[in-house]
Amino acid sequence: MAEGTVVETDGRSTARLCSVDDLASGEARRFDVAGLRVALVRIDDDFHAVGDRCSHEDFSLADGEVWGPECEIECAKHGSTFDLRTGAPCSLPATRPVPVYELVIEDGDVSVVVP
Ligand code: FES
Repeated sequence: MAEGTVVETDGRSTARLCSVDDLASGEARRFDVAGLRVALVRIDDDFHAVGDRCSHEDFSLADGEVWGPECEIECAKHGSTFDLRTGAPCSLPATRPVPVYELVIEDGDVSVVVP
């Protein structure tokens, strides 16, 4: 299945991002699929997806550093970090959360649930 392919299952839409093996642990990558701008992050065998737009200014979070033990990603522009589980900012200057997206991992593919 190609990147961005949308599948409808049981009334819910998912859009394929990539294969599980496409991302190494500690890596983040931006995807633009199904009208969403998603930062996909891998930490060990766990995947997280947040909106790829820092809530402080419009900057790609996927360009930032992944903090594995803290499960956070750091915005490369001014250094705010965001909790990848909740989207909450953990340090200034950002004060607003970023969206968190549900993922489906199936048959070696990582897909995002389209809200
Ligand atoms: S743009 Fe992300 S912290 Fe300022």
